[in-house]
Amino acid sequence: MSDVTESVDVNVPVSTAYNQWTQFESFPLFMEGVESVTQTDELHTHWVTSVGGARREFDAKITEQYPNERIAWNSVGGDAGHAGLVTFHQLSAEQTRVTVQLVWEPQGVVEKVGSMLHLDAHQIKADTKRFKEFIEQQGAAQGGDIVEILLSQHEEVKRKFVQVLSATGGERGRLFSELADLLHTHETGEQQVVHPVTRLNVTGGRKIAADRLEEEQRADQALGELKSMGVDHPDFAIKLDTFHQAVLAHATAEEEQEFPRLTQLPPHRRQAMAVELRAVQSSSIPN
Ligand SMILES: [Fe+2]
Ligand SMILES: [Fe+2]
Repeated sequence: MSDVTESVDVNVPVSTAYNQWTQFESFPLFMEGVESVTQTDELHTHWVTSVGGARREFDAKITEQYPNERIAWNSVGGDAGHAGLVTFHQLSAEQTRVTVQLVWEPQGVVEKVGSMLHLDAHQIKADTKRFKEFIEQQGAAQGGDIVEILLSQHEEVKRKFVQVLSATGGERGRLFSELADLLHTHETGEQQVVHPVTRLNVTGGRKIAADRLEEEQRADQALGELKSMGVDHPDFAIKLDTFHQAVLAHATAEEEQEFPRLTQLPPHRRQAMAVELRAVQSSSIPN
């Protein structure tokens, strides 16, 4: 058995690092010996690896998954005994220690010799280094700026409201449910990533965050009432109009009181927040 453990400190929040390791299909982007990983269902993945010219395929099962703490998998069947464990340790709000442990059965002369020479340890060290570059660059490239993302989501919400208000019948129902999902995703992101930063890191932020949160809770309630009312209810339009005004006022308050203060945070912090926002929003399930 070969057993290699390697740690790397990455400059992203723990949730970002963890979320990336749950995206098995992206492993080939930073793991050299891995050609492809296909997620076949919630717990199973199919791997194609190529180490020293030896191509191997196997299925793996996720055996442990604790958000922001650890993820582990084990090969099942196939010709390669393989197991992985990745643990996450929060060093600060923006830095995480990721420890990768891989255990496998070397097969064939190439792998056995490689293992004896500790070439595998070398490779995993290189892989974790690539992971660091990958996830930090991704933050810079894809994350963009938290304030820009929030502003563009506000515009999207505003456009959707106009569409819902001008639609009728089944079309209105469909657009309303899109609006509800959009709002849910947006507010979940703000509640988990934005308001906590405002509360703790911005002068006068405690009250601003509390006020916005209260508005969001009221909006959530109004949204629930609209949903159970249904678009065909005679009072739907008037209630939707009131809700629309409340959401617009809320967005304006954020844009005037909260976002300008966030732009005073250092750029790397705003990028890290953007990455985290995307991670939170992509895993937020519309209710
Ligand atoms: Fe909000
Ligand atoms: Fe917002």
